[in-house]
Amino acid sequence: MIDHFLSTQAPPAVNVSSVSKSFADNSVIDGISLRVEKGEFIALIGASGCGKTTLLRMCAGLEEPSSGSIEIFGRPPSAATSAHEIGVAFQRPALVPSRTALENVRLTLKITGSNDAMDPLALLTHFGLAEAVDRYPHQLSGGMQQRVNIACALVHQPALLLLDEPFGALDEITRERLVDWLAGILRESSRTTLLVTHSVEEAITLSTRVFVMSRRPGRIAAEIKVPLPTIRDFEVRQSEQFLGLVRSARDALHSAIAD
Ligand SMILES: Nc1ncnc2c1ncn2[C@@H]1O[C@H](COP(=O)(O)OP(=O)(O)O)[C@@H](O)[C@H]1O
Ligand SMILES: [Mg+2]
Repeated sequence: MIDHFLSTQAPPAVNVSSVSKSFADNSVIDGISLRVEKGEFIALIGASGCGKTTLLRMCAGLEEPSSGSIEIFGRPPSAATSAHEIGVAFQRPALVPSRTALENVRLTLKITGSNDAMDPLALLTHFGLAEAVDRYPHQLSGGMQQRVNIACALVHQPALLLLDEPFGALDEITRERLVDWLAGILRESSRTTLLVTHSVEEAITLSTRVFVMSRRPGRIAAEIKVPLPTIRDFEVRQSEQFLGLVRSARDALHSAIAD
């Protein structure tokens, strides 16, 4: 009973409340509200230019809403960022050029002073980068850089993970392997994740809910719940239920773009 009381009182991981954002007179986001509970995996899909990256940047405290408010675990994003509660991987890898892959991941640990971190070498090995740990960013392919980038976002075990199309530059096989592996490690933790993706399959494979955004100025056009088993192996991904959810999300995306 007390547990129940406490859990309903806990602030949500992400609380976006009537947020709008304009750059000069370009209205990019128009009145978005969404609430993400701890442990949820949210996928965000929408046409390019509809404000997905802007929304994620505001959640990370890198951009201020023009109106409305955002709270991360009950406080302003900047406070959550300072407390190293947020891990981010944006579309373009942000690696330090003068440091090797392994040193880049270790640097995140140093900056965040984390004590329940993952082992950087094991993490990079899981990402298929065992041979590349001592290479500098310019010696890595785009896909490899992106994997190091994701490792940097994850290694300190942040409570909230913000991923902006992190698999976009990867080939199909690497992408599938990383999606599976990411699904695995996220299942084992109470981490909350917000993932922007242009892949409807990826959204349904990973998430507990999918938000579909309209064209710019971005609004939430639809929400799709994903009541699939936690482990979404090959068999689940071939099931009628999975394929039906992919179809619903795709239909919602098409009508959101057409409106
Ligand atoms: N810092 C900025 N200054 C001016 N315009 C911006 C800035 N960041 C994003 N925009 C504009 O906001 C719109 C949405 O961009 P973005 O959030 O990157 O969309 P998405 O990630 O959905 O493709 C685009 O028109 C983009 O040009
Ligand atoms: Mg974007």
